[in-house]
Amino acid sequence: MSRLYRHYTTLASRFNAWRSRFPWSEGMFMDGRCYVWEPNFLLRHLKGQHRGRIEVGRNFKCINSLVHNAFGMIQPTFFNVFPRGTLRIGDNVGISGTTISCSEAITIGNNVLIGSGCLITDTDGHPIDPEKRHAANYYDYVVNSPVVIGDDVFIGARSIILKGVTIGQGAIVGAGSVVTKDVPPRAIVAGNPAKVVKMISD
Ligand SMILES: CC(C)(COP(=O)(O)OP(=O)(O)OC[C@H]1O[C@@H](n2cnc3c(N)ncnc32)[C@H](O)[C@@H]1OP(=O)(O)O)[C@@H](O)C(=O)NCCC(=O)NCCS
Repeated sequence: MSRLYRHYTTLASRFNAWRSRFPWSEGMFMDGRCYVWEPNFLLRHLKGQHRGRIEVGRNFKCINSLVHNAFGMIQPTFFNVFPRGTLRIGDNVGISGTTISCSEAITIGNNVLIGSGCLITDTDGHPIDPEKRHAANYYDYVVNSPVVIGDDVFIGARSIILKGVTIGQGAIVGAGSVVTKDVPPRAIVAGNPAKVVKMISD
């Protein structure tokens, strides 16, 4: 990457971070616009939040435009963190055009790579029971369960990580997988629902 291009991307990232009202942390690279739902989201050094909380570590790289991802882009990154939710993103994390929907807790470790067009959610979004689905207090019946993505995990493009899942350190989620259960460390899982297809040797 030429020095000129680096300067351009740094300035563009900052401009886009400002434009999307997303405070950047140290080394954050934000290409294109990253959408954040819930207006008063806050990073760890800000106080008094009433909405969902987002914490972002160092060297966060968020890719949102078609030209910057070899697999293309079907959407910009979108963080939806509800008032009682906390989204934690570790250091050196890269995310391309992904939705993260957090009602309770989603924790992403260090050095995690998340491919283009993924969905990570700790909530079903709607109740299982059809009678409760249109109730005024429907939200009380929605099932939520925290998601934990360990350090060094690599999530392939267009994958879906559903509620309650823990992905162990160093695991890989194959492209287009739907992960409904925990993934052991250093496992490669693939399919719908995702199953272990092999282990990564030391
Ligand atoms: C379908 C769903 C609601 C079921 O939730 P649940 O009743 O808690 O289901 P469980 O997690 O207990 O899973 C039951 C079984 O179905 C499988 N399963 C669940 N969701 C699955 C999915 N989306 N694809 C494939 N298999 C799935 C599980 O692996 C499990 O299999 P097993 O019986 O062999 O162990 C949930 O898994 C889901 O898909 N939630 C997302 C809902 C959504 O898209 N909301 C959009 C809001 S805008």
